[in-house]
Amino acid sequence: MSHWTIAPIMLLAAAIVTLLIISSRSWLRNGLQKRRMERTIAIQTQCWDSEISAALQQTYINLSVTERSAEWFTTKIVRVDHESADVKSFYLVEASGSPLPRFLPGQHLLIERPLSDGLPTEFRCYSLSDDCQQGYWRISVKKNSASVASVSRWLHEDIDVGDTVRVRGPTGSFYLHSCAQRHIVLLSAGIGVTPLLPMFLETLKRSHASVSFFAQFRDVDHMPFGEFLLNAAHNFPKARIQMWLSEFPRGVKGSSTNVIQEGKYTGSDVCNSIEDLHQTDFYLCGPEAWQIKLKNDLIECGAGEKNIRFELFQESQPPAQLVAERQAAPCSVHFRQSNKLTDFASTYPNLLGFAMESHVPINSGCRTGACGTCAVKLLLGKVRYIRKPQFQLKTNEILPCVCVPDGNIVVDA
Ligand SMILES: Cc1cc2nc3c(=O)[nH]c(=O)nc-3n(C[C@H](O)[C@H](O)[C@H](O)COP(=O)(O)OP(=O)(O)OC[C@H]3O[C@@H](n4cnc5c(N)ncnc54)[C@H](O)[C@@H]3O)c2cc1C
Ligand code: FES
Repeated sequence: MSHWTIAPIMLLAAAIVTLLIISSRSWLRNGLQKRRMERTIAIQTQCWDSEISAALQQTYINLSVTERSAEWFTTKIVRVDHESADVKSFYLVEASGSPLPRFLPGQHLLIERPLSDGLPTEFRCYSLSDDCQQGYWRISVKKNSASVASVSRWLHEDIDVGDTVRVRGPTGSFYLHSCAQRHIVLLSAGIGVTPLLPMFLETLKRSHASVSFFAQFRDVDHMPFGEFLLNAAHNFPKARIQMWLSEFPRGVKGSSTNVIQEGKYTGSDVCNSIEDLHQTDFYLCGPEAWQIKLKNDLIECGAGEKNIRFELFQESQPPAQLVAERQAAPCSVHFRQSNKLTDFASTYPNLLGFAMESHVPINSGCRTGACGTCAVKLLLGKVRYIRKPQFQLKTNEILPCVCVPDGNIVVDA
């Protein structure tokens, strides 16, 4: 055969081989992705009873809860309630009228405050605070400051019934892992009550061994959902509810049913009220120092560390040991898009704070590794995480709000 006839045959063969390689790669990738999703769904739903598991499968079709890409919705505010002196609830529906998807009890939304009056676009997270299957969403926001830049101030003062707000989610890996035979203990301080409310409502519908709710409040003026919890204590005898007030009104005694107590609850108050610590799941939400103390107390009483889950509303401080290690090993950060090369100051709690100080624009929404807003590409080097990211990252992506450089790095920001 002459080389004139062999050449087209060889070209055809090469094309077929290339096609086979490409299709087998994508088949392998799809297959692996599918297996990974199935495995995650199986892990996440093994603790749910069949009804909720079926609902989850329908809602999220092929994607697992933490892996699905969070969607933006334009929502309309249809109701605003005052819950306490500094907390307002906002009820959100889809602007076009379609029902909003259900969420897992404990998850949160990312809210966008659009660019206005010279203020930049900002993002903040707010936990969903009502039943997870209503078709509407409710967030309950504490007014954090009177500063014009404050997003909670904007919600309290500039947003009302009829306004539209862009939100992304629901998302987050802090949610109720519901097993019928487990005891559920919900522990909150202040505005940390919000993600625990949907969890509480869910436990009332399911056949848990028991549910307890300990809520710490400052005083009677700062008791968001106090009335709801008081009513629940009377209407649902299966729920053990204790509300603790740091400052009790003068001349008033705690309720005879012990629903309202004076002072601050401790780990031993919680442990003493539980019969079987090994069969108990704890969910904590409140300030970081309070969480650390309570968690240590619970572990000391015999609670399993893996059964204690918690949500943080503010960025955490890095452990002193990490700061000392970084001081001993200085490193540089190259922000490639901004064309800035600087030494990383070990006093910065995380890479995001350092980027902001260096005037490198990176958006943020939670500063706790929960929302993914700050995700950027790491082009060179390594980082160390101060907190485990709750957000599913793509290859080479990092969350600057919860990491510090581990040696010299180049970042795509
Ligand atoms: C997962 C999650 C759920 C939350 N759920 C609730 C809830 O249900 N109810 C509620 O009231 N609050 C909740 N928060 C806190 C909320 O997201 C805001 O941090 C809070 O409202 C204060 O925002 P602000 O703009 O009013 O703060 P400001 O008073 O303006 O600022 C407070 C501090 O936050 C810093 N900050 C700046 N940008 C950010 C950012 N992007 N993220 C965080 N801090 C920033 C500021 O530098 C300042 O030091 C939640 C936070 C997280 C992470
Ligand atoms: S700001 Fe939310 S993950 Fe970093």
